[in-house]
Amino acid sequence: MNRLALFASGNGSNVQRITEYFSGHPLIRVDLVLTNNPKAFVIERARDLKIPSVIFNRHEFYHSGHVLDLLSERNITHVILAGFLWMVPQNILNSFHGRILNIHPALLPKYGGKGMYGLRVHQEVIASGDTQSGITIHYVNEKYDEGQIIFQKRCQVNREDTPETLAEKIHQLEYRFYPEIIEKELQIKDK
Ligand code: GAR
Repeated sequence: MNRLALFASGNGSNVQRITEYFSGHPLIRVDLVLTNNPKAFVIERARDLKIPSVIFNRHEFYHSGHVLDLLSERNITHVILAGFLWMVPQNILNSFHGRILNIHPALLPKYGGKGMYGLRVHQEVIASGDTQSGITIHYVNEKYDEGQIIFQKRCQVNREDTPETLAEKIHQLEYRFYPEIIEKELQIKDK
């Protein structure tokens, strides 16, 4: 069984979608939700989905083995970032090499890097005048948004789009493709 830990910093709609997608799956299950944000709505979602959630602070994440211990205790096999704001520390990168995925709400390498998160990304895409945006699913390494790209899907950016309407289009792509790509990646790697 592949056991997923989902990391999120905010709303957690992707966490919900991924958890529902894998509910009853024979090979993959969501075991744990982790967040750095005690006010994140993802905590309520996890409760409703009956998945344990853990809140951790900066010290626990970067200067202790606390989060890695939690992942090991639960035999987590893969880490999935879904709207998670912080860099993954080296101890987790080492232990989960090639087994950490992230989704970014734009077509990397454009509009990536530190601070490029959520609506901020869509504001910049619209301000630039680009007529396309999309999603990128990629492996995570020690640099923000620079790990190997696994999958991208495009959508149109219209003149009438606001950051909010673009976010909605992007979310629809995320819900459709992130669970499927996770499933494919895990099954390919396990062979
Ligand atoms: C998603 O659009 C995700 O791609 C983005 O945050 C949103 C979280 O939404 N991630 C990043 O911007 C990472 N740099 P959600 O909390 O409703 O799933």
